[in-house]
Amino acid sequence: MKPYVYITRKLPEETIAEMTAHFDVKMWDHEDIPVPREVLLEEAKKASALITMLSDKVDAELLTAGDNLKIVANLAVGYDNIDLETATKRGIHVSNTPDVLTETTADLTFALLMATARRVVEAAEYVKAGKWESWSPYLLAGHDIYSKTIGIVGMGKIGEAVARRAKGFGMDILYHNRSRKMDAEMEFGAEYSSFEELVSKADYVVSLAPLTAETRNLFTADVFTKMKKSAIFINVGRGPVVDEQALYEALVDGEIAAAGLDVFVKEPISADHQLLKLPNVVALPHIGSASTETRTAMIKLCCTNVNAVLSGDRPKTIVNKEVLR
Ligand code: DGY
Repeated sequence: MKPYVYITRKLPEETIAEMTAHFDVKMWDHEDIPVPREVLLEEAKKASALITMLSDKVDAELLTAGDNLKIVANLAVGYDNIDLETATKRGIHVSNTPDVLTETTADLTFALLMATARRVVEAAEYVKAGKWESWSPYLLAGHDIYSKTIGIVGMGKIGEAVARRAKGFGMDILYHNRSRKMDAEMEFGAEYSSFEELVSKADYVVSLAPLTAETRNLFTADVFTKMKKSAIFINVGRGPVVDEQALYEALVDGEIAAAGLDVFVKEPISADHQLLKLPNVVALPHIGSASTETRTAMIKLCCTNVNAVLSGDRPKTIVNKEVLR
C-alpha cells in the first residue's frame, strides 16, 4: 500500500503530479474554503503526510489522531499554527517554505508601504467613484518615502530583502532583531536599534516578526504612543503581534498617521471590523507571498519535503531539526 498524503486545500493537479506517482494523494475539494475540522481529523488518522495551510490549526489533537504521521509540510514560512512541541515529541517532521517566498513577500511589503504612504487605494477608489472634479494642490496628498527612515522589526531574510528595497529608495534603515545582522549592516547601512529607539525614530515601522511567545502583543498602546504622529505602521508578519484595539485607537487619536495591514488577529477579518472603517488603513487578505510563481514554488517545496521524509531522507527545509537525530 502506498503511503497516504492529505492536502488541506485544492491545489493545481500539475503542481502535485510527481507526488501522485509515488503516493496515494488526496486533496480537500475546495480552493477557497478551508477543510472542516472533523474531516481533517479523519484524514489525519490515515495520513503519513499532511500538507497544511497557515490557516489550519495543527494542534495536539490532530497530531495524535493517527499513528502514521511522519511529516506536516506547512505551505508558509511561518508555522505558528503548528504545535511544534507535540510534533517533535512524536517524531513528526515539520517543514515550512522559506527562501522561495522571500523576494515576493518583500515586494508586497514595499507595495503596501507605498500604497499606504501615498494613499493609492483611497485615490483609486476616489476616481472610480466619480469624485474627481478638479486637480488641486493637496488632493489626496500622502507622505514621502524617499529619504525617510524605515524601522524593520524582525530582520530575517524577508526583512533583509525589504532593507534592500529601502536602500534603493534612499531611506535610512533601522532594524531590531533577536540577533545582529552584520551583513545587512554592511550591505545596506542598516543600523541595529533597540525596539524602543526604533519605534520612536522610524517614519515607517514595519513588522515582519514571526509570532512567538515574545512577540505576541508586542505593539501595544504604549508603543503606538512612542511612535511619531506622522508614523506609518506596516504589518506583513503575523496579526497577533499587534493589540488591534490599541492600533485602532492610535489611528483614531492621531497617535500615528496610517497603517498598512496584510495580517490580522483573526483571519479572515470581518468586513465590519472597526479597523476597516478607517480611511487611513490599507487592508489586504494575507497575500504576502501570493504571486503565482511563488505559490507554485511553495507547493513544490512542500512536495519535495513530503517526498524526502516518506522516502526516508531529510526534508529540505525542516523546522524541528531535533527529530532528525
Ligand atoms: C508565510 O508564508 O508565513 C506568509 O505569511 C505567507 O504570506
